[in-house]
Parts: sequence; structure tokens; C-alpha cells
Amino acid sequence: MDRIRIKGGKPLKGEIPISGAKNAALPLMAACLLTDKKLTLINAPWLADVGFMSELLRSFGVETSYVRGPGFGEGGRLDLTARNIVNTTADYDLVRKMRASFLVLGPLLARFGQAKVSLPGGCAIGARPVDLHLRAMQALGADIQLEEGYVLASAKGGLTGALVDFPLVSVGATENALMAATLARGKSVIDNAAREPEIVDLGRCLSAMGARISGLGTSCIEIEGVEALHGTQHAVLPDRIETGTYAMAAAICGGDIELTGTSADLIGAVIPLLAATGTAAVSTNLGISVRRNGVRPTAADVSTEPFPGFPTDLQAQFMAVVATAEGRSHIKETIFENRFMHVPELLRMGADIQVQGDTAIIQGVEYLKGAPVMATDLRGSSSLVLAGLAAEGETIINRVYHLDRGFECLEEKLSAAGAEIERLKE
Ligand code: UD1
Repeated sequence: MDRIRIKGGKPLKGEIPISGAKNAALPLMAACLLTDKKLTLINAPWLADVGFMSELLRSFGVETSYVRGPGFGEGGRLDLTARNIVNTTADYDLVRKMRASFLVLGPLLARFGQAKVSLPGGCAIGARPVDLHLRAMQALGADIQLEEGYVLASAKGGLTGALVDFPLVSVGATENALMAATLARGKSVIDNAAREPEIVDLGRCLSAMGARISGLGTSCIEIEGVEALHGTQHAVLPDRIETGTYAMAAAICGGDIELTGTSADLIGAVIPLLAATGTAAVSTNLGISVRRNGVRPTAADVSTEPFPGFPTDLQAQFMAVVATAEGRSHIKETIFENRFMHVPELLRMGADIQVQGDTAIIQGVEYLKGAPVMATDLRGSSSLVLAGLAAEGETIINRVYHLDRGFECLEEKLSAAGAEIERLKE
């Protein structure tokens, strides 16, 4: 299995291009199932998760083709045509690799009136049930049965528009409900909808495919069902988690970088927090400039929240930043119940962190020390990269496949910005 070696202690400088968002690309890919015409995604990142989703779509009979961009981080072109669908079963072997596979449920059900989807796997960051997805499909008139680890969903006469009222904000369940409702008969209202930019991106693409949607970006989305959708070309939104991760890389290492192809409004909750640590992030013509001088970051407290709050997907990375801060920081995780798995690894690098329930208390240390480490989830692994970039000595990161799920050309991008980082192939 590949590993990543980092020699820490170098400030970052130069440009880092930001790729299209993984969490936008995956639901957009699932949306191709809603039409027999071609959906073209540009600025599509080349990531393991995009590969898994392509494989799953091909197992249904979708024609897929991906052409990489000319340079790293330039974004590729992904063509998806769900013309000859031969199968509506999402197999356990494909779904277990990635939770976002569950997003095929809504589109398959809406267009074909049936779907059999394995219960998902994905990162081990908590129980992560799918009850809200199922509740949404039932509200839209589907019959749902659970059998041997599979969800059997059917709506023989098609789905019917309805009120989908979520008791809890869920990104994936909102996306599944939104896609399903585009082809339902009549009007649907999604109440307590998630407001993440990736949902707005999905809604815009669906609208370009002929869907009738209003209220995107608010907690109440209205959809007037249509008979059929058509193809379109859509540019995937920039990745706000990648943007925030590299901004935090500058915060922990010091330096002066420009993140290009992204925008400050995607990380609105992150910028004031970076400022509190002593890192300036400002909009430029090309994206965001991030700067911190040589002094240690200052401690800061944060709590994860659904968008527009501070994202849970940046919690681990921010913990690496404040691990070397002057003072004591508190980080509260409110979205997932088991998302501190990076803590024992940061401790091995010399951090001083105590976890009390849903809160980590971080007493900043003067410096971290390189060590062999590994994480069991994607964002946790990226926090170890940040810690390694700042640490004294050498860090070896194991289980790189987690990083490959969500960060395009990570070593290339960081090396070009002056970091000493390389992949050890095995
Ligand atoms: C998405 C993101 C993930 C991010 C998360 C929260 C993608 C592909 N993944 O995941 O990177 O960390 O949003 O911002 O976009 N829940 C239920 N029942 C359900 C569904 C969710 O109880 O049916 C709970 C979850 O366990 C969790 C909370 O709701 O505690 C939020 O999860 P959700 O927003 O659904 O996350 P995902 O869509 O899985």
C-alpha cells in the first residue's frame, strides 16, 4: 500500500489550484440516472471516489468516459449517459466502498420505479444511518423493505410529490429527496433541507436538465415534478474542503499562498477562525490569498455545524493547526459521534489533546514531532498531512487510500508550494 513521506518545517509559498468538489461531483454523477440523455461534468476531479461512483454507474449500464485536464488540478471532463439501463441493483461490493453510493436510490426509483441498493459503508466516523433517505422516499410514495442488507424500494406507478419533512439536517438525504422529486408527479416541498453549496450546485445542474426547483440554498426547497429531464453540461463547484485544508496548511506552516479557482464565500465560517489564529485570508481575482508570518498560531475555539457553520469535514485539519498554537483551544463535534479518530495519531506526534465527550481540548505545544501515523478516515488523514508539514523531522502517513478518495494530486500541489512531500509506491 502506498505511503506518504513528509519532511516538515517548510513555510508554503506560491499557488495551489483547487479542484472540483468531491462532494458535489458524486451527487451530480448520480443525477445522470434521471435522464437517457448525456450529462457532461467539467471541472470533475480525478479521485478514487469518482472512480467508485463510475464503476457503480457502469454496473447499471451507464456509459462513462473521463478525460483528465491538461495539468494537475485542472479538472477533467466526465461524460455520463444512462441510455441503456440494464440493472437497478447497487451491489454490496460496490456500495460498501463509499457511502455516497446510496445517492443512486432516489434517481433510480424516480426514473425506473424500482431500486435495490445495499446499505452503505464508507468512512468509519459513526453510525451514519440512512433512515432519513428512506423516510424521504416513503414520503414520495415508495414502498421500502429491508432484506439481507439491501434496501428494496419500489414505486410502480412512479413517485408522487409530497412534503418531505426532515427532523435532522442531512446533506445526502436532501440530495436523494431533491433528485427523486424532480420526476415525481406534482409538487414536493423539502423542509429542513440542508443548505450546503454542493446541494445548490446539484440543484442548478438539475434545473439545467429541465427540473423546476426553487428555494435552493434555503432550508425549504420546492420542486415541481416534470415528465422527463434532458442532458446538459455543468461545471462542478470548487472544493471548499480542499480550499479550507490548504488554507489551514498555510496557517500551520506559515507562508504566503494563493488558492486559485475557488472563492472565499465557500469558506465563510473558516476565514474569521483563521483570523483568530493569526492567519489572514482575503479574496483575490483568482481565488483566495492566505498568509501567516512565522509566529505560532493563536488558540481558538470552534463547534462544527451544518452549512453555513464551520464544516465537520475541516474539524480534524483545524485540530492540527491549534495543536501548535499558543494557548488552549476547544473543538466541539456536533455532526458525527465518532470523529476524533485522528486524536491518538496527533498525540503520537507530540500533541496535547484530551477528548471529553463531543469536545476535544487542545493545549498547544511549541512543535510537533514527525512519526509514522495512519488515520481511519479521509479528513483525519489530511489533518495528519498538515501536522507532518509543520512537524520537526519525518512523518510517514500510512493508508494513503483514504487521502486518494478526496484530495486530487495532494503531493504535487503541496510540493509545488514548497513542501517536502512524496509518495512511496508499493
Ligand atoms: C455529507 C458529506 C460528508 C460530510 C457530511 C456532513 C458527501 C458525499 N459527504 O455526508 O463529507 O461530512 O455530509 O457535512 O457529501 N443521519 C441520520 N440519518 C440519515 C442520514 C444522516 O441520522 O439517514 C445523520 C448522520 O449520522 C450525521 C448527520 O445526520 O450524524 C449528518 O449526516 P449527513 O449530512 O447525512 O452526511 P452525509 O450526507 O453522509
